[in-house]
This record gives sequence, structure tokens and C-alpha cells, in this order.
Amino acid sequence: MPRTRLWLLTAALAVSGCAGPFPQSTLQPRSDFARATDALFTDIFWWAALVFVIVETLLVVALVRFRHREGRPVPKPMHGHTLMEIAWTLAPAVILVFVAVPTVRTIFATAGDAPADALKVDVIGHQWWWEYRYPELGVVTANEAHVPVGKPVQVTITSADVIHAFWAPRLGGKRDAIPGRENRIAFRADSVGDYSGQCGEFCGASHANMRLLVRVDADSAFERWVAAQRAGPAAPAAGSLAEQGKAVYSRSACLGCHTIQGVSPGVIGPNLTHVGSRSTIAGGIFPNDSAHLAQWIADAPALKPGSIMTRMKPPLTDADIAALVAYLQSLQ
Ligand code: CUA
Repeated sequence: MPRTRLWLLTAALAVSGCAGPFPQSTLQPRSDFARATDALFTDIFWWAALVFVIVETLLVVALVRFRHREGRPVPKPMHGHTLMEIAWTLAPAVILVFVAVPTVRTIFATAGDAPADALKVDVIGHQWWWEYRYPELGVVTANEAHVPVGKPVQVTITSADVIHAFWAPRLGGKRDAIPGRENRIAFRADSVGDYSGQCGEFCGASHANMRLLVRVDADSAFERWVAAQRAGPAAPAAGSLAEQGKAVYSRSACLGCHTIQGVSPGVIGPNLTHVGSRSTIAGGIFPNDSAHLAQWIADAPALKPGSIMTRMKPPLTDADIAALVAYLQSLQ
């Protein structure tokens, strides 16, 4: 009895692993690209299931029928049965054709470019964050991309340093981000929502901390977002903590690496012009709140191993950090 219970417990634990939510499941596609690969997966899954059932049935039948029994002669081995040899050569070949044709069809369907009027998004992988540029809209942002629902999107992917891979599983397949090369992916998202993803190619110490978010917006929300991103940064109110923060920013090393439109031109780290409007920081691994921003500014490598944003020398005071946080949060 205890053994039965152990088996039941094991089965229950194994099955509970199948419970959701799975924000990065390719089995819950939300774009034409992802639906094509999901359909291919389902197709091949059933072929594989059929092969499994046939092979295992034959195996079990053979085990039971031809097993050794007392007083029974050894079964006669079969050799040179032409019909069977032809059958078990042809059957896998036919199955492979049924797998290969939809596979090649899907590869071509998902490798093409979007129509010429598609929204263009340039994705640039950095150790360890994502930069998004919308060349036609004049928008540059980081870690969170916005795209409109139901519209074709043409993504061009490259890298500023090492090889990364851009992957938002519910929207489309993985594509390598290779320095000096451009890879492309086109998709049309079909449902409004937030779709998380991550770097899919080992790229150094914080590869696992290189997450991303694609926000699929309704048309009007996307237009509002674009308008807000194109506007200059908010000017902090006179005498506010944010204004002190801007002064700290302007006399510290921040401006060597970050762009804030009209304030600093750095291009090594993420563009911060509208950093306050994002939901996460540091490559999508922490919520964009005061506590995490303060910790991040004080000691980024402690939160993200290998981060090239080092501790400042001399270190910023707590008051300076609080002012900087207020300033960054004001940049909506
Ligand atoms: Cu970037 Cu892994």
C-alpha cells in the first residue's frame, strides 16, 4: 500500500508541473508566426504519437507472444522477408515526407519579410539588455518594446557586442543577434497583452538576466505611447527632489553612458529619456520602483553579475541616490 501511495504522490507531483501560468509558452501563440510554428508542432506531435503507439504495440506483442516458456521450442528467426523489408523501409520514408513538407513550408512562411508598410523595429542586443529603435518614428527605448495589435511588424536584429538571441516565444521564434549582421523576423500580433521573453543564446555572466517584454497595444494606446516617447523629457518642477536629482545626474558619470534627450548623449547604456514610463529596469529583471532603482544605482553589479555599470567612485551619497531616483521616476 505505501508503494501505491508513493506512486500516486509522484504522479500528482509530475502532473502539477503542467499547471500554468506559462508566460513564455510557445504552446500559447499570439501571432501569425507563433501560430504557424505551434501548428507545425501539433502536426509533428501526432505523427510522433502514431509512431510511438505502433512501435510500442509491436514491441509488447512480440515480448508477450515470443517469450520463453517451459517446453516450448525456440521461435524461428525471420530472415529475408522481402515484403516486410520493403514495408518497414517505406513506412518511415512516407512519415518523413509528411513531417518534412509542413516543416519546410513553415520555415519559408516564417522566414519572409513583412509587407513594406509594416512597422519597423530595430532590436540591438547588449550585455545584458535590449535596445529598441523605431527608425520611422524616431523612438529609442530599452527592454520593453511596444507594437500595435493586428499590424505587421518587421523586426531587424543585431548586437552591439557578443551573440545574443531575441526570443519572445508567444510572438515568434528565436533569432540570433549577431554583431555586424542583421537578422530579421516578421510577425503580426493578434492579441493585446504583455509578452515576456529573454535572450536565447548564452552571452556571458548575466545571460539569464537578459529578459525582455513586448507590449502589444491597441492602436490608440500605441499611438499615445509613441507620442509620449517622441516628446522631450519632462522638466522637473523647480525646487523638487527630482530637480536636485537632475543636478546630481548632470555632474556624475551617468551622462557618459546614458542618453537623456537634451541632457546627455551617452550611448553605452539604455536611453533614459522616458525611463519612468517602463515597468522594469536592468534588462527586465526588477520592477521599476524606488527601492530597486536606488539599489541599482548604488551597486548594479551586486544585482546583476558582470554589469558594466559599476559602482561610482567616489560613491554617491544616499541623498544623491534618492534625488536621482526621483529624477529618473519623473522621466515619464
Ligand atoms: Cu544575451 Cu544571452
